Amino acid sequence: MRGKGAALLVALLVVAAVLAAIPSCSAAATTTLPKKPKPPASPPSADTSRRTPSSAVFPVYGDVYPHGIYYATMNIGNPPKPYFMDVDTGSDITWLQCDAPCQRCSKVPHPLYQPPKNRLIPCENPLCYAVHASTHQKHTCESPNQCDYEVQYADHGSSMGVLVADTLALSLVNGSAVRAPIAFGCGYDQLFRKPEEPMLTDGVLGLGFGKASILSQLSSWGVIRNVVGHCLSSKGGGYFFLGDDLVPPSGLTWSPKLRIGDSNYYSPGPASLVLGSQSLGSKLPVVLDSGSSYTYFGFQPYQDFLSAIKRDLSRQPLTETSDDKSLPLCWKGPKPFKSVLDVIKYFKPLILSFGNGRKARMEIPPENYLIVTKKGNACLGILNGTEVGLHQELNVIGDISLQDLVVIYDNEKQQIGWGRANCDRLPKS
Ligand SMILES: *[C@@H]1O[C@H](CO)[C@@H](O)[C@H](O)[C@H]1NC(C)=O
Ligand SMILES: *[C@@H]1O[C@H](CO)[C@@H](O)[C@H](O)[C@H]1NC(C)=O
Repeated sequence: MRGKGAALLVALLVVAAVLAAIPSCSAAATTTLPKKPKPPASPPSADTSRRTPSSAVFPVYGDVYPHGIYYATMNIGNPPKPYFMDVDTGSDITWLQCDAPCQRCSKVPHPLYQPPKNRLIPCENPLCYAVHASTHQKHTCESPNQCDYEVQYADHGSSMGVLVADTLALSLVNGSAVRAPIAFGCGYDQLFRKPEEPMLTDGVLGLGFGKASILSQLSSWGVIRNVVGHCLSSKGGGYFFLGDDLVPPSGLTWSPKLRIGDSNYYSPGPASLVLGSQSLGSKLPVVLDSGSSYTYFGFQPYQDFLSAIKRDLSRQPLTETSDDKSLPLCWKGPKPFKSVLDVIKYFKPLILSFGNGRKARMEIPPENYLIVTKKGNACLGILNGTEVGLHQELNVIGDISLQDLVVIYDNEKQQIGWGRANCDRLPKS
């Protein structure tokens, strides 16, 4: 995740549950997330039990290159304050850098989140259990009044803190404004790959399908259906939505959502992978992850992909260059490239085919796996997953390859869909 370059927001196994008491938060901490949302100070928020779920749509900012992150503004707290949050379908854990007080926070775009007094989620709360399950932590309760979490990402960034209860203000497409109770991480100790660089975001919005995710929490209150979608533009920006009102009624390719091990990654099933006409493997575990800027291939597909690309390029006027540190593998042309359109003719499309027999295809044209850097070189946006510590079988389809697609993660119908779209305009609902 964070940081330019190889941004990857796949939560990895966390070995130790680190427990720390936070004095300023722990006074008389007996609050649980109410079974029913407390009626917020301001209307409207009716009886949740009879709601027809609605949807909320958010503009997305950022890009793959040079920022390496797509994020949205979330309004949290009472009164609500804005925070920039990384839109991450690759993990369940939502957190904000937090003044608990903060032990290690970086420079963030907004004032540090101030957790409300006496709103710690206790360890025995089911959401605490869910957070520990999602982060592969042991559910131990050394401090029963609080729920300690730690989440680590494949780029070696991490956040450690406690779960707190607060509210998320949403403008729904049915015209209502609601404040939904949410539990999320107050992160008082963060590690980043480049700690000296200011962050573009205040935290991460976890949109996985585990119970701890914001998506699951909001759908359990009946505010939205358990569906999330995004449309990330190659020009930068785009939008994402919660709920199913903005799912295009036609024109999408669907594949059943498959579970990979005990992870909460979104996978449209095992895939075969073809470059041009050459197979790079079959039955490959593939996940879609908006929290990862680039795409990562597993050990064998990455090796086969690289040798195929290098073989194809040996007859082309492109030469490998090491004077560009943007990404591990870059090429120079006879003159600097202005845009990715100048280089796509030298590369072939990748095709992922999901499912057995019933072929749901996802095409990844060269513009969805290459970037052109400020120096005018073309660089490969598909990286070596094994090198960053991903399981060597796992293939992670990140933002670069999801650009200009509307991608739907439907946890109601247990399916994942995608289709080409113009992501530059917010959709009408
Ligand atoms: C919009 O949806 C929300 C969430 O289900 C509900 O609470 C609210 O009453 C709805 N508003 C209208 C105007 O239907
Ligand atoms: C990918 O990374 C792994 C682990 O560092 C390494 O063993 C492997 O050779 C790399 N693959 C290629 C094609 O460079």
